[in-house]
Amino acid sequence: MEEHFEINHRRWEEAVQIHVKSTTGVYGVPEFRAGADVLGQIESEEVGDVSDKSLVHLQCHFGLDTLCLARRGAIVTGLDFSGKAIEAARALSAETGVAGTFVEGNVYDAAQLVSGAFDIVYVTWGAINWLPDIEAWATVVAHFLKPGGYLYLLEAHPAAMMLEEMEDGTLVPTYPYFQGRTPLTFDESTTYTGDPDRLKNTRTCEWNHSLSSIVNALIGVGLRLDFLNEHDRLVWKAFPSMISDGQGFEVLPPGVPSVPLAFSLKASRP
Ligand SMILES: C[S@@+](CC[C@H](N)C(=O)[O-])C[C@H]1O[C@@H](n2cnc3c(N)ncnc32)[C@H](O)[C@@H]1O
Repeated sequence: MEEHFEINHRRWEEAVQIHVKSTTGVYGVPEFRAGADVLGQIESEEVGDVSDKSLVHLQCHFGLDTLCLARRGAIVTGLDFSGKAIEAARALSAETGVAGTFVEGNVYDAAQLVSGAFDIVYVTWGAINWLPDIEAWATVVAHFLKPGGYLYLLEAHPAAMMLEEMEDGTLVPTYPYFQGRTPLTFDESTTYTGDPDRLKNTRTCEWNHSLSSIVNALIGVGLRLDFLNEHDRLVWKAFPSMISDGQGFEVLPPGVPSVPLAFSLKASRP
């Protein structure tokens, strides 16, 4: 494995164990166990009717959203390079009786690990920032789509990911928008769920992909853009001054000019 993947893999193997038992409410595992569908509001409204559709969820983490989509009637396959995440996804599937196939592997190797073509490729919240090469990722997406099938992507907005909050609350461009292949490295000793557990593997390697590079990568592999939306909300507290909107999102406080915090798109294979 390349060094940046090894660094991120170590981090995710550890973080997922915190997320599965998280008590902060970011992941609604107890609600899911009790029978609820905890898929977020934006993706619920935008992904379309998934019933009886075959769906591959790339970077599925421990399968919570994958299994919510299965509860909506999709025939789901999840892929993630964290063995611990895949183990947890299989355990959650077995425990709740919600069917799903879960495969361990790097997204760039997905075409060799998962067979068949799908109606929907599903990628959301904190996935493509772990990937150095957006064109190669788009090739993987296109590989999996049946004619008429589509990608649904919901992610942090690259314009927001440039920003860092200063002590006085101002948001200052700090990281590149046009990043290239050199990873940004960060060291954080806790994870975004807000649980107090300390991580041993603090380092991450990440990439900020410009909106045009993502859209053009998808056009470049023959997909047609059906919609592109921008959102003023995120599902994690990217900046310390963000406040909960009471609907499962973090938003900027009143008085701060609006910033695109997330984007979503649907892109179809003709
Ligand atoms: C923030 S989580 C994805 C969030 C997801 N929406 C969820 O269900 O919470 C990011 C996931 O990407 C996975 N990941 C990171 N780099 C990867 C890679 N190169 N190939 C496959 N999985 C990767 C991590 O293991 C982690 O589970």
